[in-house]
Amino acid sequence: MLKPYQKSRSSKKNQIEKMFDKISDDYDFLNWIITFNSHKRWKNNILSIAKKLNPKKALDIATGTADIAIKLGSIPNCEVVGVDISEQMLNIGRNKIRKKNLQKSVSLQKGDAENLNYNDNFFDLITIGFGVRNFQDLEKGLGESFRVLKPNGALIVLETSVPENKIIRLLYSFFTRTYIPLMASIFSKDKLAYKYLLNSAESFPSGQKFKKILENVGFKNISIRPKLLGSSTIYIASK
Ligand SMILES: C[S@@+](CC[C@H](N)C(=O)[O-])C[C@H]1O[C@@H](n2cnc3c(N)ncnc32)[C@H](O)[C@@H]1O
Repeated sequence: MLKPYQKSRSSKKNQIEKMFDKISDDYDFLNWIITFNSHKRWKNNILSIAKKLNPKKALDIATGTADIAIKLGSIPNCEVVGVDISEQMLNIGRNKIRKKNLQKSVSLQKGDAENLNYNDNFFDLITIGFGVRNFQDLEKGLGESFRVLKPNGALIVLETSVPENKIIRLLYSFFTRTYIPLMASIFSKDKLAYKYLLNSAESFPSGQKFKKILENVGFKNISIRPKLLGSSTIYIASK
């Protein structure tokens, strides 16, 4: 199993929590640099899809610094909860929510995607942005999302993916193996974290493979929307 600190014996979940705690101060800035701010556009895509569904209760899993939860907070009469295992990422998110005065519609709680503290059939919508590839047990995490979603509720996942076109894949590989480590070496406190994020992006089952996993968990009506030449993908599924 790919983990951030391969030499350490602690579980992937424990390492992920520590890693995101450690990089929380840099996270938004590096996300901006590494994706050329495209992540904002993809998160706006999620909001456009979500708005049409008119959710009343939404859960943003692996919410991190709460970008997606904050966007969902703009949907009228929608109560949004964001959960994450990293308290430091949540603290950055809480400050952003306070600054935007969204405390009434958006709240953040420490919580594990693989063990959600909610009743079955509770949410109309679940979003997960760049979170699933960090789960210790992917099927268990998605299974929990399935459990707490209402029947016909929607799951929207945004995750890195590997471009299918061979030439684009080569260029993508060159870019990720040069530019990202360079930026991480200049700006990040934790070089191993960015090595892990890169390696996990390359090995994560994307496209049709991820669709198959969603189907195995029970999701239906799955659509796949590649972004930026397939370097990230939005998946939409229903229960
Ligand atoms: C790359 S960040 C994504 C943050 C945010 N969703 C975004 O799109 O910018 C991944 C987040 O997933 C969280 N995470 C990883 N495994 C988790 C789990 N099992 N339960 C909850 N959060 C988890 C990490 O703590 C981290 O904040």
